Amino acid sequence: QAAVVEHTFNVGNLSISLCNKTARIITAVNGQLPGPTIEAREGDTVVVHLINTSPYNMTIHWHGIFQRGTPWADGPDMVTQCPVQPGANYTYRFNVIGQEGTLWWHAHISFLRATVYGALILRPRGGAKGYPFPKPHGEKTVILAEWWNDNIYDLERKAFREASTLRPADAYTINGKPGDSYNCSDANQTYKFQVRHNEKYLLRIINAALNTPLFFKVANHSFTVVGADASYTTPYETDVVVIAPGQTVDALMVASATVGRYYMAVSPYDSANLPNPTFSETNGTAVVEYVGYTGDEQPQLPPRTEYNDTDTAFRFLSNLTALVLPGKPTVPLSIDTRMFVTVGLGVSDCQPEQLQCNRSTTHFSASMNNASFVLPSTVSMLQAHYRNKSAGVYTRDFPDRPPVIFDYTSNVSDNGTMQYTTKSTKVKTLCYNETVEMVLQNTHLIAKESHPMHLHGFNFFVLAQGFGNYNETTATPQFNLVNPQERNTIAVPTGGWAVIRFVANNPGMWFMHCHFDAHLSIGLAMVFEVKDGPTEEASVPPPPEDLPHC
Ligand code: C2O
Repeated sequence: QAAVVEHTFNVGNLSISLCNKTARIITAVNGQLPGPTIEAREGDTVVVHLINTSPYNMTIHWHGIFQRGTPWADGPDMVTQCPVQPGANYTYRFNVIGQEGTLWWHAHISFLRATVYGALILRPRGGAKGYPFPKPHGEKTVILAEWWNDNIYDLERKAFREASTLRPADAYTINGKPGDSYNCSDANQTYKFQVRHNEKYLLRIINAALNTPLFFKVANHSFTVVGADASYTTPYETDVVVIAPGQTVDALMVASATVGRYYMAVSPYDSANLPNPTFSETNGTAVVEYVGYTGDEQPQLPPRTEYNDTDTAFRFLSNLTALVLPGKPTVPLSIDTRMFVTVGLGVSDCQPEQLQCNRSTTHFSASMNNASFVLPSTVSMLQAHYRNKSAGVYTRDFPDRPPVIFDYTSNVSDNGTMQYTTKSTKVKTLCYNETVEMVLQNTHLIAKESHPMHLHGFNFFVLAQGFGNYNETTATPQFNLVNPQERNTIAVPTGGWAVIRFVANNPGMWFMHCHFDAHLSIGLAMVFEVKDGPTEEASVPPPPEDLPHC
């Protein structure tokens, strides 16, 4: 029985003191950090009334939801909608079709998702008994994020002016709390999970951090991963979960340790391996406490994963495979369009938002195939597409290949041609049901990093990934065409590549971008324009009446 799950999201100021002594004002939904959890079942309709009482323009994105037939509800600022201005409202309406597992929602404008985020839990139509694994005794939502003591809006402005990058967070948080291993916080700022001895829990883990992939552990406990990005996986045993911004992991954990208290810990994975003194120490923590424990011993931290441990990250991220279930989409075997796309950092000329920019200084920029993406300012791209008026808003010339072929993974910081990006609003136009293979190749022009690339509107299959320059001859035999993992966000290995495939069965304008806000804001993005199909259901519907105007 399909239901309508209805929420009101009042976005406004919240005064909070976390990890410092004085309160500061953040932007939050319904006065909560994290914001409210949305729980729905496959087949349900979700309706969220956004009321913007904050001083900032706002949009909300339902990260990982396909939005089939509801492209106006996707949420990225200026891609599918103009922002909801202070004092204005907008209602997001979408259906949950063929998706189960953990997703999340977040603000999709400036850096406001730092504090505007929450969980989106999708259960099978029949509830928890429909899981393809034995029903756990309980479920726990674990949202990992970053926290800054400064106002996030100021921090973003400052980053743009000075270096187009954001300094590391002051703390990592679990369910909004940094935990007592930071000397700025205490037991009141430590999230506590209660478990019963020998019971099994489904942990729904979300990385909501702005810029940092994370390692996640619980002392004296291990996990069986059963899902990622709301797609079931073959059960995978591990004692560390690796999760890039945008990704989710569903993992079973049995409370099989001695009755006691244990730290759950989250620490950064810095794929660029930039020496940062805080990375080797910082731990966001929560406490897992067994029911019936009466002692007061200080819990132990789990053994630390080094902040630059790329081996561990790659092992986890590349070993996952899909649980093949009847009726689930399978990887397309014939390909209509092949793309080879570089992703990485570069430099650029001035941007209007860089207040102290002058023509003699260069600034960081980021690009895909050397095109550094700029959002339009007068009308959203989906509106322009719907009205057939792309002129002056976007151009259909996103290249299938980089303009120059070079050694992508060597540190060619003097490679002027490729370093110097062009600012543009380019889209790749696809026909309805076209199948696409995309090789994502990281570059090392400024820094070598693992970029978490997120595609709106679709899941894609991850066929293979590796280090170095992509080599078709040696990579093709490694393609997993049997049970490749299905994702909405792929952490392209640092100094490496990944091959993904998807079917363009969803008409609309779909953002693809690095899920580091520090990179998205300087252009590491592009948009797929998917044309209407032959039927009304396979066409972009008229916009809702309350769609905000610019
Ligand atoms: Cu989770 Cu375009 O974002």
